[in-house]
Amino acid sequence: MEDLAIARGIDPNKFIIGIGQSQQAVPPNHQDIVTLGAQAALPLLPSIDNNRLKMVIVGTESGVDASKSSALYIHKLLNLSPWVRCVEVKEACYGATAALMMARDYILAHPGTQVLVIAADIARYGVGTPGEVTQGAGAVAMLVSENPRVLQINDDSVVKSAEIQDFWRPVYQSTALARGKFSTEQYINMFCDVWQRYSAENACNFNDFEAICFHLPYTKMGLKALRAGFEENSGMSPTSDTRERLLARYQDSTKYSRRIGNIYTGSLYLGLISLLDCDYFRNSCDSSATACDSSESVGDSPAVACDLSSAAHTNEPPTCPSPLLPGQKIGLFSYGSGAVAEFFSATLVPGWRDALFSNQHIKALNNRTQLSVLQYEAMFNSAAPYSPQDFASSQNHRSGVRFVLDSITSQERRYLSI
Ligand code: COA
Repeated sequence: MEDLAIARGIDPNKFIIGIGQSQQAVPPNHQDIVTLGAQAALPLLPSIDNNRLKMVIVGTESGVDASKSSALYIHKLLNLSPWVRCVEVKEACYGATAALMMARDYILAHPGTQVLVIAADIARYGVGTPGEVTQGAGAVAMLVSENPRVLQINDDSVVKSAEIQDFWRPVYQSTALARGKFSTEQYINMFCDVWQRYSAENACNFNDFEAICFHLPYTKMGLKALRAGFEENSGMSPTSDTRERLLARYQDSTKYSRRIGNIYTGSLYLGLISLLDCDYFRNSCDSSATACDSSESVGDSPAVACDLSSAAHTNEPPTCPSPLLPGQKIGLFSYGSGAVAEFFSATLVPGWRDALFSNQHIKALNNRTQLSVLQYEAMFNSAAPYSPQDFASSQNHRSGVRFVLDSITSQERRYLSI
């Protein structure tokens, strides 16, 4: 982001401190939401029982077809049972939460079954646009079942919808249109609205939460909403301990987004993974390594988790939170422009730390190749076009990748497992 800021004639501190982004994931043109989504689900395959799996739901706003569901391509790449329902859900960055709630309700109605939920997106605003700093790409996969290994989703959510024009993408183009400041205001207002209703309906307040994760179009966004919530809280005010804890946990939840950028509908869940992985690294390293390392590096584990450099950027207290424990409640705020917002909670279950893939996540992040700004622009502009032209993807940057979009011929996509 520093290189990008310099290339655009902008003070790097605007990107790194003001907006809160240090790096950005740029997908090669053989990667799209299908390949990213399938790759994200790979580690879950050993836990998927083809006799119990009943649905594959993909939340995305970067669909590869206006009609056919990306879930079908992913279903084939993963070689899943044919006896499932495959669908795609769209509502900007909220889609995956809608999918997760459908999955939860399905499991309640059909105990013993499994649902695979995948959130996959490529955030594209365009070279040289104000939103360019918030681009990113990635996917999150979640297996929902009666006996969760990480979190139990509670039946407490509050959801609000309102038709507003803050961010959208017409079907004929690959880049989004946004009213940045208006969108930021809507996000904060929606958070305050659903939080107030949620806390009234569930007779709770900020003190009842160990952490709150936010949808993160950029890492400063959730912080603005959290602070607004602290100020507007009409019920019991958060204690100073609660404020400090929620702010420290917030910093943990933004570590991955700071290095990846916006992954739209997966970004709330990337924040959740970041929170849990930070706790994992902090509590698996020896006591000397768990001290809050204020170095700028966000590189190798486990320092990445203990590093509070992003807290330093926001002048928050450099507090290392205590270990997360089973039974603790985590709040989740989902926001999709357009707009739908939902606040719900999930509770950590015993043994949750054993079910994480923290080392794989850090390895994947650290194995990326740094691009120059010119290389990034060429890669950005080489994406499969929204047109009937034939397309052959690049042979570069394929190592470590399991699935590729190889070509589009006569308007049909051809994916490969490699
Ligand atoms: N050093 C430190 N901070 C700086 C700075 C510098 N040199 N220059 C600017 N900043 C700060 C600003 O004060 C501002 O902070 P604030 O928001 O706390 O007030 C922040 O950097 C952004 O500056 P701003 O002038 O508002 O940036 P912008 O008008 O170029 O907007 C985006 C950039 C990315 C915020 C905007 O385009 C956007 O929101 N886009 C995406 C919209 C979106 O994602 N919508 C979906 C929501 S879910």
